[in-house]
Amino acid sequence: MEKNFINTDHKANLVDPFNRNIDYLRISVTDRCDFRCVYCMAENMTFLPKVNLLTLEELYRLASLFIDCGIKKIRLTGGEPLVRKNIMWLIEQLSKKINSNFLDELTLTSNGSQLSKYAYDLVKNNVNRINVSIDTLNEDLFKKITRWGDLRKVIEGITVAKKAGLRIKINTVALKGLNDKEIPDIIKWAHDNDMDITLIETMPMGDIDGDRTENYLSLSAYRATLEKYFTLSSCEYKTGGPSRYYICKETGGILGLITPLSHNFCADCNRVRITCTGKMYMCLGQDDSVDFNSLMRSKATDDDIINLIYQSIRMKPISHDFKIDKYNSQPAVSRHMSVTGG
Ligand code: GTP
Ligand code: 5AD
Ligand code: SF4
Repeated sequence: MEKNFINTDHKANLVDPFNRNIDYLRISVTDRCDFRCVYCMAENMTFLPKVNLLTLEELYRLASLFIDCGIKKIRLTGGEPLVRKNIMWLIEQLSKKINSNFLDELTLTSNGSQLSKYAYDLVKNNVNRINVSIDTLNEDLFKKITRWGDLRKVIEGITVAKKAGLRIKINTVALKGLNDKEIPDIIKWAHDNDMDITLIETMPMGDIDGDRTENYLSLSAYRATLEKYFTLSSCEYKTGGPSRYYICKETGGILGLITPLSHNFCADCNRVRITCTGKMYMCLGQDDSVDFNSLMRSKATDDDIINLIYQSIRMKPISHDFKIDKYNSQPAVSRHMSVTGG
């Protein structure tokens, strides 16, 4: 029978030194991606050697032990999670944790390129909602921003996913001089198609070919522009993510704003992330990490790993230090978003 530690008094939930309850685990299952978004990667990326990756079985073991420690929500990210070979195996295993009530939610963040192929399998495996990235509805600009992406394929994926019954939230990175003029139309499109949408500020992570400061758009400042198009009222809707949500009166849809640079939300942080190589990052915007890979490959017992999980949570920093302006054009952390999965 499968071994499951239940949270009892001696196995307390994961609480960090700032009294934040950590119940959300993001797992970057691969650093690879079939796109090369300009704010995320250089075109000529060197990806991690495959031998360094945790196998899907190892990722599952680690995820299960986190669940034993009180993790209630898991989001698979990447790179593009759906390009990892046999990823559905991991999703099927984690789905059983929902069936047995050890996990509340299993979801993913995807670029949508593989959705036509996988949407029905996702629904079959307890995935009810996913986040899909779309920064523009213009095919040429989409090609310019993603370098390798095909907007038609992503839209087709979304159509199949909706038919399969998935709820979709669109993620749009706000990029000055690229998609800023189009953002009100993208919001309207998402809402007209019954999808929530979140706008995200570019975060300074990893070297890219260009200079991020050129395209940085402060969403706190951009709100005034948005309010020319929409009447926004704050709403209590919460997903456990960093978005602050608003209702657009004109569309009736929900708009989220993720503003790590112009407004910090770290006080409510509820998450940690593990990478495909088994490193745990306690904060997206800090370099502190703990290596589970070598422990797991040294015949460690489940209790050894659980002890390291608790120790790591005690090291979670209070907040990130993202800054982006002409004096801070260097990335705040050297790794790319695709390593930690956002
Ligand atoms: P839900 O709220 O569960 O729908 O998801 P989410 O918005 O947290 O997840 P998603 O993977 O779609 O991430 C959207 C954006 O939020 C990405 O750009 C992430 O990098 C960013 N993000 C997620 N968590 C954090 C965080 O702890 N800190 C910062 N600065 N950004 C985060
Ligand atoms: N800053 C902000 N958002 C980013 N994403 C990828 N890289 C960055 C970055 N440097 C976004 C993607 C996707 C989500 C996981 O993170 O567009 O929507
Ligand atoms: Fe791939 Fe997402 Fe990075 Fe774009 S932002 S290159 S889709 S991981």
